[in-house]
This record gives sequence, C-alpha cells and structure tokens, in this order.
Amino acid sequence: MKNILITGANGQLGNEMRIVAKHSDLNFIFSDITPIEGGYYLDICNREAVRAFIHANEIDAIINCAAYTNVDKAESEDKACYALNVSAPENLAIVMQERGGLLIHISTDYVFGGNEAHRPLTEEDKCTPESVYGKTKLLGERAIESLDGNYVIIRTSWLYSEYGKNFCKTMIALTESKPEIKVVNDQIGTPTYALDLAKAIIEVLTNYDPSKRGIYHFSNEGACTWYDFALKIAEFNFSQGCEIKPCTSQEYPSPVRRPHYSVLDKGKIRRVFNVATPHWEESLKVCINNIKANK
Ligand SMILES: NC(=O)c1ccc[n+]([C@@H]2O[C@H](COP(=O)([O-])OP(=O)(O)OC[C@H]3O[C@@H](n4cnc5c(N)ncnc54)[C@H](OP(=O)(O)O)[C@@H]3O)[C@@H](O)[C@H]2O)c1
Repeated sequence: MKNILITGANGQLGNEMRIVAKHSDLNFIFSDITPIEGGYYLDICNREAVRAFIHANEIDAIINCAAYTNVDKAESEDKACYALNVSAPENLAIVMQERGGLLIHISTDYVFGGNEAHRPLTEEDKCTPESVYGKTKLLGERAIESLDGNYVIIRTSWLYSEYGKNFCKTMIALTESKPEIKVVNDQIGTPTYALDLAKAIIEVLTNYDPSKRGIYHFSNEGACTWYDFALKIAEFNFSQGCEIKPCTSQEYPSPVRRPHYSVLDKGKIRRVFNVATPHWEESLKVCINNIKANK
C-alpha cells in the first residue's frame, strides 16, 4: 500500500488526518470540495470524476472523511444528505473494488437511537436511526458492505477538534461571552477528539488485512451528557463568568430526536487493531490546549 487518498480533508477529521499523515511514510493525497492548500478539488458525489482521479493517481486506499454532517438541516435537505452520505461512499467503494484497494469510511452513533439502550452499544446491536442523517449514514454503510470489497467502517460519536464548527468550540465562545447558558442533560454519549480518531485510522490502515474487514466502533473512553461535557470545557478553559444550567431535550428546540443513549463499545477495535482509546476528559484537555496554542 503506497498512495492514500483523504477525501473531505478540509473538515474536522480531515484536518487531523493531515496532521497525523506528517508522521507516516505513506504518500497521502488530500482532497475536498473547498480549496485546500497543497490538495485537490474532488467532488465524491461525481462517480466518473472519482474514477478518473483514483486511477490517474494509482490510489491504493481511501480514507473518507467527507459527509453531510449538519444533523438538523438534513431533515429539510434530504436529497443533498442522501447524495453525500449514501451515493458518495458507494462511488468510492465501487472504484476501490475495481482497483482491489481499501476503503476506510466513517459512520456515526446516530445509526442507533430508536431503541432504549442502557449499556455500551456493540457492532452487532440493531440499528434504529430516527433522523435523516442517521438513516442515510446507515444506508451508506449498507452500500459499502453490499459490494464485498475491502473496507473498514468506523462508527464514532460526538466528534470535536480545534478545526471547523463543533460543540467544544461553541461552548468556549459561549462561556467566555454569556452570563448564563442552558445545556441538554438527558442525552448520554462519549465525546471523541478527532485527533484520537485520526491516530486510530492510521493503525487500522497499516494493520489491515482482508480477514479484518467489517464495522468497528471508536470513541474516547467514558460517558457523559452534553451538560457534563460543557462543564468540563469551561473548567479546562478556565471560563468562570458563565453559569451553566442543565435542561431537557424538550427545552432545546430541534427538528431531530437524538439518541437518549449512544455510548459505543470499543472492545472489537481494541482487540483487532490494538488502538488506544484515551478517556474523554484527558483528550479534551489536549484539544483545548491545542485550540489555545493555535489562537
Ligand atoms: N461531527 C460529529 O459530531 C460526528 C459524529 C459522529 C460521526 N461523524 C462522522 O465523522 C466523519 C467526519 O465528520 P466531520 O465532523 O469531520 O465532518 P465535517 O467537518 O463536516 O467535514 C466534511 C468535509 O467534507 C467536505 N465535503 C462536502 N461535500 C463534499 C463532496 N461532495 N465531496 C468532497 N468533500 C465534500 C466538506 O466541505 P464543506 O464544509 O464545504 O461542506 C467538509 O470539508 C463523517 O463521516 C461524519 O458523519 C461526525
């Protein structure tokens, strides 16, 4: 394996992949639909463009970091969401199958949701997505699986990083500027620092063989509510002037019912690929330090 294509390289995870790629001997090629320094324009919804790019650059593996990720907006933009979360990964899987290469695709804890779970969810648990976003991400997984090529699908949860728009950066801005905020306290999950996921992806890429094909769960360790997460963000950022109050999902207007509990069981990815899963609080400290260093 020599040439690795990162799609969606301008997103949260894509940017972290660019950082970890610097420490690898492999040849990484970066692409997105937004201009990218030292990278290429590639719209992964366009199958012929994908085919031409992958063959011309002799790509051996793709790490697909592109997706339609605006969960609320997806409810009214279902066609655009379907194109990016279902047709695009199918395009990548078809072309990689033609080349006999590997597709690493990222999915989400929002493929769960309709069932009341009370223990960490395994890869075998029934998927019951309730949102357009969750349903399209599940269909994207199924499109890849049905092709029978070389693939690893990694479901992750509550992603944040120093790049792009995310809960951690929003909370830093709000707790530095508002006297009081309310944060949802009845959804339980695990925040995941995109840099930890990027490191796990490199482990998967370098240790893959066809016997390891399949779906895996990866997040940081531990569990919390969005309210707990906000409290820790304020604590690690030393924001003291804002009172953070808990509220229910019903008090926070959204067109989407999010999973009540979506903690992922990471046993399989640890066993098969030996990846590290740091506790979410430790990784949050690292990310906040990186955000401050980048200011
Ligand atoms: N964010 C979360 O909380 C979360 C949670 C669980 C799982 N995930 C999954 O983790 C993965 C990475 O998420 P992320 O938060 O890093 O995503 P992100 O920040 O939204 O980045 C996605 C990137 O893909 C680009 N893109 C959009 N349309 C494209 C197209 N047609 N062709 C090529 N690139 C395109 C986007 O450009 P524009 O910005 O111009 O659209 C953006 O740069 C996704 O699969 C997501 O479903 C995310």
